Amino acid sequence: MASYVWWRLIVVIIASVLIQKRPVFSEPQTNLLGKGCSQYNATNLPDFFRRLNASFVDLRNQLSNQDKRFATTQQAVYAMVECRKYMSRADCVTCYDAAVSLIRTCAGANGARVTYDGCFLRYESNNFYQDTTLPGNAEICGNRTSSQPNALSPVAIQLLNDLSIATPRISGFFAATKREASGVTVYGIAQCAETITESGCQDCLTVAYKNIEGCLPKYAEGRAVDAACFMRFSDRSFFADNMKTDITPFLGGGGSSNKKKTAIIGAVVGGVGLLLIVLAMLLWYRLSRKPKTAERGNILGATELRGPMSFSFKDLKIATKDFNESNKLGEGGFGDVYKGTLKNGNVIAVKKLAMISSRAKADFETEVRLISNVHHRNLIRLLGCSNKGAELLLVYEYMANGSLERYIYGDKRGMLNWKQRFNIIFGTARGLAYLHEQFHVCIIHRDIKSSNILLDDEFQPKIADFGLVRLLPEDQSHLSTKFAGTLGYTAPEYAIHGHLTEKVDVYSFGVVVLEIISGRRSNDMQVEPVTEYLLEHAWKLHEAGTSVKLVDETLDPNEYSEQEVKKVIEIALMCTQSPANLRPSMSEVVVMLLSDRSTDSRTPSRPTIISMDKSKPIDSSITTGSSASNATNTFSDFTGR
Ligand SMILES: *[C@@H]1O[C@H](CO)[C@@H](O)[C@H](O)[C@H]1NC(C)=O
Ligand SMILES: *[C@@H]1O[C@H](CO)[C@@H](O)[C@H](O)[C@H]1NC(C)=O
Ligand SMILES: *[C@@H]1O[C@H](CO)[C@@H](O)[C@H](O)[C@H]1NC(C)=O
Repeated sequence: MASYVWWRLIVVIIASVLIQKRPVFSEPQTNLLGKGCSQYNATNLPDFFRRLNASFVDLRNQLSNQDKRFATTQQAVYAMVECRKYMSRADCVTCYDAAVSLIRTCAGANGARVTYDGCFLRYESNNFYQDTTLPGNAEICGNRTSSQPNALSPVAIQLLNDLSIATPRISGFFAATKREASGVTVYGIAQCAETITESGCQDCLTVAYKNIEGCLPKYAEGRAVDAACFMRFSDRSFFADNMKTDITPFLGGGGSSNKKKTAIIGAVVGGVGLLLIVLAMLLWYRLSRKPKTAERGNILGATELRGPMSFSFKDLKIATKDFNESNKLGEGGFGDVYKGTLKNGNVIAVKKLAMISSRAKADFETEVRLISNVHHRNLIRLLGCSNKGAELLLVYEYMANGSLERYIYGDKRGMLNWKQRFNIIFGTARGLAYLHEQFHVCIIHRDIKSSNILLDDEFQPKIADFGLVRLLPEDQSHLSTKFAGTLGYTAPEYAIHGHLTEKVDVYSFGVVVLEIISGRRSNDMQVEPVTEYLLEHAWKLHEAGTSVKLVDETLDPNEYSEQEVKKVIEIALMCTQSPANLRPSMSEVVVMLLSDRSTDSRTPSRPTIISMDKSKPIDSSITTGSSASNATNTFSDFTGR
């Protein structure tokens, strides 16, 4: 008898979990948000069209017969469809059909995307299932301006922030919710492709959140679109009330999945026992039936945007007027960089690789392929290379505004306002987080400094020179700091012991942040009355509770809040702590920069200050009072730049 009751209970629970509630809104929501076709045609078009058709048929089957809202398929063409999960089956299929007929206008293109409010469709010749955030991510604001922007904006921001935190933690990566406060109601949703990981979803939504914020406070609605995620808010409801997700259980903690696990275990132990276990089993059942995530992509076949890899030496020679001195943009650790103009008018930057190991020469093509597949809005794109001629040349996108260095303490000093500086700090953090954590190979930059951060037309930062250290001869990859690591930016454990982890970049990032805030060079000694390095100076001010004194005097005090500046300085100090494991990861930095809370309860512990013997010239020695190694180390081969 008792077991019969249990069975009924379980059946009821199963039924309520598996049967989706039907929305009352019936509308396919085919308001077009974006369409893109690859500029390259597929090879063997008849075969391609046959496979593409098969993919479209398969996806439609999954949506209509299996009642799915997310599906992938691969018939030698990779394809993915995603409906917002508040859509009914019929609306989802209608939206999908519209997307298919629109995407067919891309004809023979080997990749394409269509985004509607209600659904998203993408196909590629290559596996793209692990893509998270890609160039082209953007906000799309509605055309209605808000009638009460001051009330709406903070409510919307809180809602979107909550969504970006909760959604990656929710099975199925979708949440719809509303928020009512100060007399306004805001509706919002967030969604990630089910093929990416929790942290991939987090990263994508972090970008989306940053983008969609651009619609506020002016507009009453907005969306953020990206390769693997979507966000939308509006002051009007666009989904049925019964499709709302309760996101509160997914909001706690600082963003680590460990905390989530602890919370789940805690809840199970503390509470409703069996019921939750049944639910957990069901959840597990549904999760385990998720489409098998495809294997990590072959790096040789990345996205449809991949352009020609090989440039002819002759063309590059003409483009740079035979590497004319007047075209020289700078001298980097790896060789000189020249501005060039191709025949088609495109402006590029050409790097002449100065020294390269014989092993690396053999690996050159593989490495270049790897680097050219790094696509992130805060990382310089490598467009291609030339290795047929006398020299090894790398071709990059050209950045009109040059390097950050000019704007901090060079000829453009004082031109950047606080908002621009913050965006540069944030973008740099995002680029590094991608290199360390999201790209399928962890790339440690090893030489983050302000001259390696370039600025585009809109003063968005782009990190240059990543991946190149791998081309250096083995014995030069550390200690010869001329190439890997630059005085004043190098983490002590790397400078002294050659101990390399991604936390080496975190350290250098922290130093760059202090430079951006103070307008001071990290390796300049403050002139009278105190002679000390920037990091030491920042630390002392922080200890005295006067870190705001660090701020560049060219900044208008009305532009920034002391609290925000203090928070950023604190984050920078956390990045420069020793031992290295105290430093946050770059994705944690991204989250901390965005959060309103100051750095939680974590207070930075005093970093190991690398400081130079004040009586000696700059390149003669470097000493450290390291708490990790209690001896004082002296270095003589620091050559600075
Ligand atoms: C693919 O489908 C489209 C539209 O239904 C059709 O026009 C085309 O002929 C098909 N192509 C192949 C190769 O089956
Ligand atoms: C791509 O294929 C379409 C036909 O499917 C054709 O009209 C177009 O010219 C091709 N484009 C290129 C660049 O080859
Ligand atoms: C904006 O307004 C135009 C014309 O009124 C309309 O066609 C379009 O769909 C609107 N766009 C959005 C995103 O609402």
